[in-house]
Amino acid sequence: MKRKILVTGGTGFIGSHTTVELIQAGYDVVIVDNLSNSSADVVDGIEKITGVRPAFEKVDCLDYSALEHVFQKYTDISGIIHFAASKAVGESVQKPLLYYRNNLNSLINLLQLMPEYHVKGIIFSSSCTVYGQPDPENLPVTEQAPIKKAESPYGNTKQICEEIITDDIKSGAPIHAILLRYFNPIGSHPSAIIGEMPNGVPANLIPYLTQTAMGIRKELSVFGNDYNTPDGSCIRDYIYIVDLAKAHVAAMAHILDDKMTTPVDVFNIGTGKGNSVLELIKTFEECTGVKLNYKIVGRRAGDIEQVWGNVDKANKELGWKAQHTLAEALSSAWKWQQELRKRGIM
Ligand code: UFG
Repeated sequence: MKRKILVTGGTGFIGSHTTVELIQAGYDVVIVDNLSNSSADVVDGIEKITGVRPAFEKVDCLDYSALEHVFQKYTDISGIIHFAASKAVGESVQKPLLYYRNNLNSLINLLQLMPEYHVKGIIFSSSCTVYGQPDPENLPVTEQAPIKKAESPYGNTKQICEEIITDDIKSGAPIHAILLRYFNPIGSHPSAIIGEMPNGVPANLIPYLTQTAMGIRKELSVFGNDYNTPDGSCIRDYIYIVDLAKAHVAAMAHILDDKMTTPVDVFNIGTGKGNSVLELIKTFEECTGVKLNYKIVGRRAGDIEQVWGNVDKANKELGWKAQHTLAEALSSAWKWQQELRKRGIM
């Protein structure tokens, strides 16, 4: 029988790509999403790509009884991948209670239900934001690097959620957990059937960049060229979304096939390589042939100067490695932007 995985936030950007990879790896998927930041049409897209329609329940993970009903309806869920969360750094500063309520309580509800419904493991979407700005000798950053005080309520929810899971397991909860600390996910499925769908004016680099290339935005602002980096712009570890999605499949197999050496473990998920904003723009122009209108402006408050990951642990223990180049990821993002134009969405 196929193993059944509950994917919360499964119609979102990372959730939808992960659902595709899970289905293609032979899992059954049940998506739970409240559609607060995504659309049910994404389920059609997933079906179009995979030929399989995942089960979909419009449920808010804050609603304990509705969530419990999902476990009663789909009786044999083996694992959970928990994406459902609020994720805008700036908004979290304006609405901290919304972020703490959504992100913490959703996780607590799932953890509470897992033992009762014999769910073996959970994968939690964490972020390299927990490292803050690593000290220069700690770059590329490993999982052992110290956790720094969070810069925003959003970042704090990631740290607290990691602690909630760890404490729950320490207390004897009969579950396993993998915390995946993502670097910067970009791009879209090669089919351009699903992709990133930001609401309003994008805060993140890639959707702003592709919207500028499309003429929706006048110009891209590069936030700072006076950082202590080779070209002065910030450095990040940009990972292709399909590679990131596959890391979840590897992590789920690690749990379900009893490969874990400790009941809760943490892995960096990135490429192991850093690129600056200016390098990224140059790569985009080269691989798409589109000239980008951009200007250098002042630094953005709260930005980390440079961070990229040491991903040896995931390579060795999960048998997973990012396969795609930055140019491939950027080409897919551009293809998706063109698809949105074709569909008359943007
Ligand atoms: N940037 C620009 N112009 C823009 C947008 C971004 O120059 O219009 C730059 C930023 O200064 C930064 C880089 O592009 O150097 C990436 O910025 P993003 O906003 O795309 O991503 P961040 O690295 O700031 O944030 C991401 C996730 C967060 C997560 C954080 C962890 O979006 O959810 O990584 O470091 F918390």
